[in-house]
Amino acid sequence: MQDINQIKDQICDVCHKMWQLGWVAANDGNVSVRLEDGTFLATPTGISKSFITPDKLVRINDKGEVLEGAPGYKPSSEIKMHLRCYRERPDVGGVVHAHPPTATGYAVAGKSLDEYSMIETVIAIGSIPLTPYGTPSTDEVPEAITPYLQEHDVLLLQNHGALTVGADLITAYYRMETLELYAKISLTAHLLGGAKEIPMNQIDKLMDLRKNYYKVTGRHPGYKKYNNPNS
Ligand code: 13P
Repeated sequence: MQDINQIKDQICDVCHKMWQLGWVAANDGNVSVRLEDGTFLATPTGISKSFITPDKLVRINDKGEVLEGAPGYKPSSEIKMHLRCYRERPDVGGVVHAHPPTATGYAVAGKSLDEYSMIETVIAIGSIPLTPYGTPSTDEVPEAITPYLQEHDVLLLQNHGALTVGADLITAYYRMETLELYAKISLTAHLLGGAKEIPMNQIDKLMDLRKNYYKVTGRHPGYKKYNNPNS
């Protein structure tokens, strides 16, 4: 049986960490969790993640309708993006959206992070595609991410930020940490003359480690060919 208060505390903790890490400014970012009964807890729209407290979270159904929430609090304006992740991925229990500056720099520059150059990142999150531009809060964003969700747990959103999913909220949050660190390392490698990619036969071995040794949950291909769903 889930302890809802513990999950609310976890959401608040993640929100506070995101703000402290400088991944969000003002009201940026949003977080949600799927509950056992098929409803969802989400951060409210228009509130700094530094000020989120359990009483400000809203409980919604799969249409985004509010089931429980303090007067005046509505779910995140990006809730359609979160709900699409849950709809497309029954294995997903938590979703995090933020604007970590280095990863978002890649998204703003129109660059994906699909180089397989660091073993931890290959094992933890695999290839990171750049999804097409979408107007925030509209159906354009869920439509833009849907083709990528079956094969990826971490997405860069063109000119916007990053999105991570996980079997639970902490896994989704850790993936955002891994993404931002990898973005910083990639940028440093670029300044030093460019990353040296890991050969494909070595990536196969890392994939096996992922399955057998690390027991990493989630989905990711670890191969560039999956990066473009149309290829
Ligand atoms: P909300 O405050 O509505 O969650 O929006 C923040 C944001 O980052 C939009 O992309």
